[in-house]
Amino acid sequence: MQRLALTQISEPAQSMQLLTDDEPTPGSGEALVQMEAATINPSDFLYVTGQYFLTPTPGTTIGSEGVGRVVAVGPDSDTALIGKRVALLPTYRHGTWATYTTALATDLIVVPDGGDALQLAMLGINPMTALRLLRDYGAPDAPQRWIGQTAGNSAVGEYLVKLAHHFGHRTLNVVRREQAAKDVASWGADRVVIDGPNLDADITDALAGNTLDVAVDSIGGPSSTVLGHHLRYDGTLVTYAFISGKPSELSILDLIGNHANLTGFWLHNWWQRAALAQVRDEYQQLVDLITDGTLSARVNRTFALDDWREAIDVAQTHSRDGKLLFTFPTD
Ligand SMILES: NC(=O)c1ccc[n+]([C@@H]2O[C@H](COP(=O)([O-])OP(=O)(O)OC[C@H]3O[C@@H](n4cnc5c(N)ncnc54)[C@H](OP(=O)(O)O)[C@@H]3O)[C@@H](O)[C@H]2O)c1
Repeated sequence: MQRLALTQISEPAQSMQLLTDDEPTPGSGEALVQMEAATINPSDFLYVTGQYFLTPTPGTTIGSEGVGRVVAVGPDSDTALIGKRVALLPTYRHGTWATYTTALATDLIVVPDGGDALQLAMLGINPMTALRLLRDYGAPDAPQRWIGQTAGNSAVGEYLVKLAHHFGHRTLNVVRREQAAKDVASWGADRVVIDGPNLDADITDALAGNTLDVAVDSIGGPSSTVLGHHLRYDGTLVTYAFISGKPSELSILDLIGNHANLTGFWLHNWWQRAALAQVRDEYQQLVDLITDGTLSARVNRTFALDDWREAIDVAQTHSRDGKLLFTFPTD
Protein backbone atom coordinates (compact mmCIF):
# COMPACT_ATOMS: atom_id res chain seq x y z
CA MET A 1 0.00 0.00 0.00
CA GLN A 2 0.97 3.64 -0.42
CA ARG A 3 0.53 6.51 2.02
CA LEU A 4 1.65 10.10 2.35
CA ALA A 5 3.37 10.36 5.71
CA LEU A 6 4.65 13.35 7.64
CA THR A 7 8.43 13.53 7.84
CA GLN A 8 8.71 16.85 9.66
CA ILE A 9 6.67 19.96 10.45
CA SER A 10 7.56 22.18 7.53
CA GLU A 11 6.29 23.65 4.27
CA PRO A 12 4.01 21.03 2.67
CA ALA A 13 6.39 20.09 -0.15
CA GLN A 14 9.14 19.42 2.42
CA SER A 15 6.95 17.85 5.10
CA MET A 16 5.75 14.61 3.51
CA GLN A 17 7.00 11.55 1.70
CA LEU A 18 5.19 8.82 -0.20
CA LEU A 19 5.82 5.50 1.54
CA THR A 20 5.14 1.94 0.41
CA ASP A 21 4.18 -0.18 3.41
CA ASP A 22 2.39 -3.41 4.23
CA GLU A 23 -1.34 -2.98 4.72
CA PRO A 24 -2.04 -2.13 8.38
CA THR A 25 -3.85 -4.60 10.63
CA PRO A 26 -7.02 -3.20 12.20
CA GLY A 27 -6.88 -3.13 15.99
CA SER A 28 -9.66 -3.49 18.53
CA GLY A 29 -12.75 -1.56 17.42
CA GLU A 30 -11.13 -0.66 14.10
CA ALA A 31 -11.77 -1.36 10.43
CA LEU A 32 -9.35 -1.59 7.49
CA VAL A 33 -10.60 0.71 4.72
CA GLN A 34 -9.52 0.59 1.08
CA MET A 35 -9.68 4.26 0.11
CA GLU A 36 -11.53 5.52 -2.98
CA ALA A 37 -11.10 9.30 -2.66
CA ALA A 38 -9.79 11.82 -0.12
CA THR A 39 -10.17 15.59 -0.06
CA ILE A 40 -7.25 18.02 -0.08
CA ASN A 41 -8.34 20.76 2.35
CA PRO A 42 -6.68 24.05 3.37
CA SER A 43 -6.56 22.74 6.95
CA ASP A 44 -4.30 19.84 5.85
CA PHE A 45 -1.60 22.37 5.03
CA LEU A 46 -2.06 24.19 8.33
CA TYR A 47 -1.71 20.76 10.00
CA VAL A 48 1.60 19.79 8.37
CA THR A 49 3.08 23.26 8.85
CA GLY A 50 2.31 23.24 12.59
CA GLN A 51 -0.23 26.07 12.35
CA TYR A 52 -3.30 24.01 13.25
CA PHE A 53 -4.82 23.41 16.65
CA LEU A 54 -3.53 19.82 16.49
CA THR A 55 0.09 18.96 15.69
CA PRO A 56 0.97 15.68 13.95
CA THR A 57 4.03 13.62 14.84
CA PRO A 58 6.44 12.30 12.18
CA GLY A 59 5.14 9.11 10.60
CA THR A 60 1.50 10.23 10.78
CA THR A 61 -0.48 9.64 7.59
CA ILE A 62 -1.88 12.98 6.38
CA GLY A 63 -5.45 13.57 5.13
CA SER A 64 -8.46 14.13 7.33
CA GLU A 65 -11.52 12.91 5.40
CA GLY A 66 -12.46 10.62 2.53
CA VAL A 67 -14.48 7.67 1.34
CA GLY A 68 -13.60 4.01 0.90
CA ARG A 69 -14.74 0.45 1.49
CA VAL A 70 -14.22 -1.69 4.58
CA VAL A 71 -12.21 -4.79 3.67
CA ALA A 72 -11.53 -6.20 7.16
CA VAL A 73 -12.32 -5.48 10.80
CA GLY A 74 -10.35 -5.97 14.00
CA PRO A 75 -11.38 -7.63 17.26
CA ASP A 76 -14.54 -6.20 18.88
CA SER A 77 -15.67 -4.63 15.58
CA ASP A 78 -18.95 -5.43 13.87
CA THR A 79 -18.21 -7.88 11.05
CA ALA A 80 -21.32 -6.53 9.26
CA LEU A 81 -19.14 -3.53 8.30
CA ILE A 82 -17.05 -5.68 5.94
CA GLY A 83 -17.88 -4.74 2.35
CA LYS A 84 -19.64 -1.51 3.33
CA ARG A 85 -18.77 1.77 1.65
CA VAL A 86 -17.93 4.34 4.35
CA ALA A 87 -17.04 8.01 4.79
CA LEU A 88 -14.19 8.68 7.21
CA LEU A 89 -14.94 11.53 9.60
CA PRO A 90 -12.26 14.18 10.34
CA THR A 91 -11.37 13.07 13.85
CA TYR A 92 -7.60 13.16 13.19
CA ARG A 93 -7.37 9.58 14.48
CA HIS A 94 -6.57 8.21 11.00
CA GLY A 95 -5.00 9.49 7.77
CA THR A 96 -6.83 9.34 4.44
CA TRP A 97 -4.10 10.16 1.91
CA ALA A 98 -3.39 6.45 1.58
CA THR A 99 -4.57 3.50 -0.46
CA TYR A 100 -5.49 1.69 2.79
CA THR A 101 -6.03 3.05 6.28
CA THR A 102 -7.32 1.81 9.61
CA ALA A 103 -9.97 3.79 11.48
CA LEU A 104 -12.18 3.32 14.51
CA ALA A 105 -15.59 2.02 13.46
CA THR A 106 -17.12 4.96 15.37
CA ASP A 107 -15.31 7.32 12.95
CA LEU A 108 -17.05 5.75 9.94
CA ILE A 109 -20.44 6.56 8.43
CA VAL A 110 -21.91 3.98 6.04
CA VAL A 111 -22.77 5.65 2.71
CA PRO A 112 -24.68 4.36 -0.33
CA ASP A 113 -22.84 2.33 -2.94
CA GLY A 114 -24.36 4.42 -5.73
CA GLY A 115 -23.41 7.87 -4.39
CA ASP A 116 -20.77 10.04 -6.07
CA ALA A 117 -17.40 9.15 -4.55
CA LEU A 118 -15.98 12.67 -4.69
CA GLN A 119 -19.02 14.29 -3.11
CA LEU A 120 -19.12 11.64 -0.38
CA ALA A 121 -15.38 12.05 0.26
CA MET A 122 -16.06 15.70 1.16
CA LEU A 123 -18.81 14.84 3.68
CA GLY A 124 -16.77 15.19 6.86
CA ILE A 125 -15.68 18.82 7.02
CA ASN A 126 -17.33 21.47 4.87
CA PRO A 127 -20.98 20.30 4.74
CA MET A 128 -21.04 19.77 8.51
CA THR A 129 -19.38 23.15 9.07
CA ALA A 130 -22.15 24.81 7.03
CA LEU A 131 -24.82 22.84 8.91
CA ARG A 132 -23.42 23.81 12.31
CA LEU A 133 -23.13 27.48 11.31
CA LEU A 134 -26.84 27.40 10.45
CA ARG A 135 -28.09 25.30 13.35
CA ASP A 136 -25.96 26.39 16.30
CA TYR A 137 -26.12 30.19 16.20
CA GLY A 138 -28.85 32.83 16.28
CA ALA A 139 -32.46 31.74 15.91
CA PRO A 140 -32.40 28.72 13.56
CA ASP A 141 -36.19 28.33 13.59
CA ALA A 142 -37.08 31.98 12.98
CA PRO A 143 -39.16 32.42 9.81
CA GLN A 144 -37.61 34.49 7.03
CA ARG A 145 -34.28 34.39 8.82
CA TRP A 146 -31.38 36.13 7.03
CA ILE A 147 -27.85 34.69 7.11
CA GLY A 148 -24.92 36.75 5.83
CA GLN A 149 -21.60 35.30 4.77
CA THR A 150 -18.27 36.30 3.27
CA ALA A 151 -16.62 34.00 0.68
CA GLY A 152 -20.02 32.94 -0.57
CA ASN A 153 -18.35 31.05 -3.43
CA SER A 154 -16.07 28.97 -1.19
CA ALA A 155 -16.90 25.30 -0.71
CA VAL A 156 -18.30 25.99 2.77
CA GLY A 157 -20.18 28.92 1.24
CA GLU A 158 -21.70 26.70 -1.45
CA TYR A 159 -22.93 24.16 1.11
CA LEU A 160 -24.28 26.97 3.31
CA VAL A 161 -26.24 28.57 0.45
CA LYS A 162 -27.73 25.23 -0.58
CA LEU A 163 -28.56 24.17 2.99
CA ALA A 164 -30.07 27.57 3.84
CA HIS A 165 -32.19 27.38 0.69
CA HIS A 166 -33.28 23.88 1.68
CA PHE A 167 -34.26 25.06 5.19
CA GLY A 168 -36.04 28.19 3.92
CA HIS A 169 -33.49 30.68 5.29
CA ARG A 170 -32.38 33.64 3.18
CA THR A 171 -28.75 34.36 2.40
CA LEU A 172 -26.81 37.54 1.72
CA ASN A 173 -23.45 36.60 0.22
CA VAL A 174 -20.28 38.65 -0.23
CA VAL A 175 -17.84 37.59 -2.96
CA ARG A 176 -14.97 39.39 -4.67
CA ARG A 177 -15.54 38.54 -8.35
CA GLU A 178 -18.33 38.92 -10.91
CA GLN A 179 -18.19 35.25 -11.97
CA ALA A 180 -18.32 34.16 -8.33
CA ALA A 181 -21.46 36.28 -7.88
CA LYS A 182 -23.11 34.47 -10.81
CA ASP A 183 -22.11 31.07 -9.43
CA VAL A 184 -23.49 31.81 -5.96
CA ALA A 185 -26.75 33.16 -7.39
CA SER A 186 -27.15 29.94 -9.40
CA TRP A 187 -26.99 27.89 -6.16
CA GLY A 188 -30.13 29.55 -4.76
CA ALA A 189 -28.65 32.57 -2.96
CA ASP A 190 -31.16 35.35 -2.27
CA ARG A 191 -28.66 38.22 -2.53
CA VAL A 192 -25.03 38.46 -3.71
CA VAL A 193 -22.88 41.58 -3.42
CA ILE A 194 -19.34 42.14 -4.64
CA ASP A 195 -16.84 43.40 -2.07
CA GLY A 196 -15.45 46.87 -2.65
CA PRO A 197 -15.55 50.45 -1.39
CA ASN A 198 -19.39 50.52 -1.48
CA LEU A 199 -19.88 47.26 0.38
CA ASP A 200 -21.83 48.81 3.25
CA ALA A 201 -24.27 50.65 0.97
CA ASP A 202 -24.60 47.63 -1.32
CA ILE A 203 -25.52 45.39 1.62
CA THR A 204 -28.03 48.00 2.85
CA ASP A 205 -29.67 48.03 -0.60
CA ALA A 206 -29.62 44.24 -0.90
CA LEU A 207 -31.20 43.69 2.51
CA ALA A 208 -33.93 46.30 1.87
CA GLY A 209 -34.66 46.91 5.55
CA ASN A 210 -33.91 43.38 6.79
CA THR A 211 -31.12 42.56 9.23
CA LEU A 212 -28.94 39.49 9.60
CA ASP A 213 -29.68 36.96 12.33
CA VAL A 214 -26.16 35.56 11.94
CA ALA A 215 -23.14 36.59 9.87
CA VAL A 216 -20.48 33.97 9.16
CA ASP A 217 -17.00 34.93 8.09
CA SER A 218 -13.98 33.05 6.76
CA ILE A 219 -12.08 36.06 5.35
CA GLY A 220 -11.61 38.45 8.28
CA GLY A 221 -10.63 42.12 8.09
CA PRO A 222 -12.84 44.99 6.89
CA SER A 223 -15.48 42.93 5.05
CA SER A 224 -16.27 41.05 8.27
CA THR A 225 -16.75 44.36 10.09
CA VAL A 226 -19.05 45.73 7.40
CA LEU A 227 -21.09 42.51 7.30
CA GLY A 228 -21.33 42.54 11.10
CA HIS A 229 -22.75 46.06 10.95
CA HIS A 230 -25.91 44.58 9.37
CA LEU A 231 -26.67 42.16 12.22
CA ARG A 232 -29.96 42.43 14.08
CA TYR A 233 -29.88 43.62 17.70
CA ASP A 234 -28.00 40.92 19.67
CA GLY A 235 -27.04 39.14 16.41
CA THR A 236 -23.83 37.12 16.10
CA LEU A 237 -20.79 37.23 13.84
CA VAL A 238 -19.22 33.75 13.71
CA THR A 239 -15.63 33.49 12.48
CA TYR A 240 -14.40 30.10 11.25
CA ALA A 241 -11.27 31.10 9.28
CA PHE A 242 -9.22 34.20 8.46
CA ILE A 243 -8.14 33.68 4.88
CA SER A 244 -7.04 37.34 4.49
CA GLY A 245 -4.70 36.89 7.46
CA LYS A 246 -6.67 39.50 9.40
CA PRO A 247 -9.04 38.56 12.23
CA SER A 248 -12.80 39.12 12.10
CA GLU A 249 -13.79 42.30 13.88
CA LEU A 250 -16.95 44.09 14.95
CA SER A 251 -17.00 47.86 15.28
CA ILE A 252 -17.11 49.14 18.85
CA LEU A 253 -20.35 50.98 17.99
CA ASP A 254 -22.01 47.71 16.93
CA LEU A 255 -20.66 45.90 19.98
CA ILE A 256 -22.04 48.49 22.40
CA GLY A 257 -24.97 50.04 20.54
CA ASN A 258 -26.34 46.90 18.82
CA HIS A 259 -25.31 44.36 21.46
CA ALA A 260 -23.55 42.44 18.66
CA ASN A 261 -21.70 39.22 19.51
CA LEU A 262 -18.47 37.83 18.08
CA THR A 263 -17.62 34.17 18.44
CA GLY A 264 -15.66 31.43 16.70
CA PHE A 265 -16.36 27.97 15.38
CA TRP A 266 -14.12 24.92 14.94
CA LEU A 267 -15.74 21.69 13.80
CA HIS A 268 -13.43 19.59 15.98
CA ASN A 269 -14.86 21.23 19.09
CA TRP A 270 -18.38 20.30 18.01
CA TRP A 271 -17.90 16.57 17.43
CA GLN A 272 -15.77 16.19 20.56
CA ARG A 273 -18.53 17.64 22.74
CA ALA A 274 -21.64 16.36 20.99
CA ALA A 275 -23.15 12.96 21.81
CA LEU A 276 -21.95 10.26 19.39
CA ALA A 277 -25.58 9.49 18.45
CA GLN A 278 -26.15 13.14 17.47
CA VAL A 279 -22.93 13.27 15.45
CA ARG A 280 -23.89 10.13 13.54
CA ASP A 281 -27.50 11.24 13.06
CA GLU A 282 -26.54 14.66 11.68
CA TYR A 283 -23.93 13.17 9.32
CA GLN A 284 -26.58 10.73 8.13
CA GLN A 285 -28.85 13.69 7.30
CA LEU A 286 -26.04 15.17 5.20
CA VAL A 287 -25.40 11.84 3.45
CA ASP A 288 -29.08 11.80 2.44
CA LEU A 289 -28.88 15.37 1.09
CA ILE A 290 -25.67 14.61 -0.84
CA THR A 291 -27.12 11.40 -2.24
CA ASP A 292 -30.33 13.04 -3.45
CA GLY A 293 -28.35 15.88 -5.06
CA THR A 294 -29.50 18.67 -2.72
CA LEU A 295 -25.93 19.22 -1.53
CA SER A 296 -22.74 19.27 -3.56
CA ALA A 297 -19.58 21.30 -4.00
CA ARG A 298 -17.65 21.87 -7.19
CA VAL A 299 -14.67 19.65 -7.92
CA ASN A 300 -11.82 21.17 -9.88
CA ARG A 301 -9.41 18.26 -10.29
CA THR A 302 -8.37 14.88 -8.93
CA PHE A 303 -4.85 13.49 -8.52
CA ALA A 304 -3.22 10.10 -8.07
CA LEU A 305 -1.16 9.77 -4.88
CA ASP A 306 1.98 9.44 -7.06
CA ASP A 307 1.32 13.02 -8.22
CA TRP A 308 1.13 14.43 -4.70
CA ARG A 309 3.78 17.10 -5.30
CA GLU A 310 1.77 18.52 -8.20
CA ALA A 311 -1.44 18.30 -6.15
CA ILE A 312 0.14 20.30 -3.34
CA ASP A 313 1.53 22.85 -5.76
CA VAL A 314 -1.85 23.32 -7.46
CA ALA A 315 -3.63 23.52 -4.09
CA GLN A 316 -1.29 26.18 -2.81
CA THR A 317 -0.47 28.33 -5.78
CA HIS A 318 -3.16 28.20 -8.44
CA SER A 319 -6.38 30.21 -8.28
CA ARG A 320 -9.28 27.89 -9.12
CA ASP A 321 -12.95 27.15 -8.60
CA GLY A 322 -13.69 23.85 -6.89
CA LYS A 323 -12.02 21.35 -4.62
CA LEU A 324 -9.03 19.09 -5.26
CA LEU A 325 -9.04 15.44 -4.20
CA PHE A 326 -6.86 12.36 -4.35
CA THR A 327 -8.43 9.32 -5.96
CA PHE A 328 -7.12 5.78 -5.51
CA PRO A 329 -7.32 2.72 -7.73
CA THR A 330 -9.97 0.25 -6.57
CA ASP A 331 -10.05 -3.32 -7.84
N1 LIG B 1 -13.29 26.34 11.57
C1 LIG B 1 -13.65 25.20 10.96
O1 LIG B 1 -14.09 24.22 11.59
C2 LIG B 1 -13.54 25.12 9.47
C3 LIG B 1 -14.25 24.12 8.78
C4 LIG B 1 -14.18 24.10 7.38
C5 LIG B 1 -13.38 25.02 6.71
N2 LIG B 1 -12.66 25.93 7.43
C6 LIG B 1 -11.80 26.93 6.76
O2 LIG B 1 -12.67 27.72 5.95
C7 LIG B 1 -11.92 28.24 4.87
C8 LIG B 1 -12.70 27.99 3.59
O3 LIG B 1 -12.58 26.62 3.24
P1 LIG B 1 -13.10 26.13 1.82
O4 LIG B 1 -12.69 24.72 1.65
O5 LIG B 1 -14.55 26.47 1.73
O6 LIG B 1 -12.23 27.08 0.88
P2 LIG B 1 -12.26 27.32 -0.69
O7 LIG B 1 -13.38 26.58 -1.34
O8 LIG B 1 -10.87 27.10 -1.18
O9 LIG B 1 -12.62 28.89 -0.83
C9 LIG B 1 -11.72 29.90 -0.48
C10 LIG B 1 -12.46 31.24 -0.54
O10 LIG B 1 -11.62 32.26 -0.05
C11 LIG B 1 -11.64 33.36 -0.97
N3 LIG B 1 -10.35 34.04 -0.83
C12 LIG B 1 -9.13 33.47 -0.97
N4 LIG B 1 -8.17 34.39 -0.69
C13 LIG B 1 -8.83 35.53 -0.37
C14 LIG B 1 -8.41 36.84 0.02
N5 LIG B 1 -7.11 37.13 0.15
N6 LIG B 1 -9.35 37.78 0.27
C15 LIG B 1 -10.66 37.48 0.14
N7 LIG B 1 -11.13 36.27 -0.23
C16 LIG B 1 -10.21 35.31 -0.47
C17 LIG B 1 -11.86 32.72 -2.33
O11 LIG B 1 -12.36 33.69 -3.22
P3 LIG B 1 -11.99 33.62 -4.82
O12 LIG B 1 -12.74 32.43 -5.36
O13 LIG B 1 -12.46 34.91 -5.34
O14 LIG B 1 -10.49 33.42 -4.90
C18 LIG B 1 -12.91 31.66 -1.94
O15 LIG B 1 -14.19 32.25 -1.84
C19 LIG B 1 -10.55 27.57 4.91
O16 LIG B 1 -9.65 28.47 5.52
C20 LIG B 1 -10.78 26.37 5.80
O17 LIG B 1 -9.60 25.93 6.44
C21 LIG B 1 -12.75 26.01 8.78
